[in-house]
Amino acid sequence: MSALTELCRQMASCHACGLAQQRTQVVPGEGADSAEVVFIGEAPGYNEDRLGRPFVGPAGAFLDELLALVGMSRQDVYIANVVKCRPPANRDPLPGEILACKPWLDRQLEMIGPKVVVTLGRFSLARFVPNESISKVHGKPRHVGDLICFPMYHPAAALHQGSLRKTLEEDMQRLPDVLKELKGAAEQGDRDNGGQQLALF
Ligand code: URA
Repeated sequence: MSALTELCRQMASCHACGLAQQRTQVVPGEGADSAEVVFIGEAPGYNEDRLGRPFVGPAGAFLDELLALVGMSRQDVYIANVVKCRPPANRDPLPGEILACKPWLDRQLEMIGPKVVVTLGRFSLARFVPNESISKVHGKPRHVGDLICFPMYHPAAALHQGSLRKTLEEDMQRLPDVLKELKGAAEQGDRDNGGQQLALF
């Protein structure tokens, strides 16, 4: 069993916040153990709570479409949430719930070691870039510590507001360039034996 699988197994019995009382099951996350790109949503909804898997409802179907748009599938990335248990009636996660779940997400990211974190929606964005409006920063990658944070709207937002579908598609289509530039910079860095400024960021 990989260390990440073991971590997810431990999450299944978490009682760090009140969400444990009403969940059907914890939704730890899934995907490639050493994915270069991790997508982070908000919290499980009805379908995720039933199946124990992230993004398996209508928002997940759109996320699959977005991934396919750039030649990716779920197996190529890792998908997780800021909060691992479903808030009742899909309400917003509370600050205390986000805080209680933080160590799990921190450990996941440490173990996976992604290059890019794609934040889906405002709660995920706030976890990496506090006090920024998603309407201002979506589609614009930025350094956050050792990571590149790539903010996107939440796929569910496009289900309620059709005009955001195109925005999400356009933002997603920038992801390969971000990865390409990171690779180019790493190779150049190896040659120069020093870092170099990335044009995109
Ligand atoms: N919305 C999320 O933020 N996460 C899921 O897993 C499903 C819907």
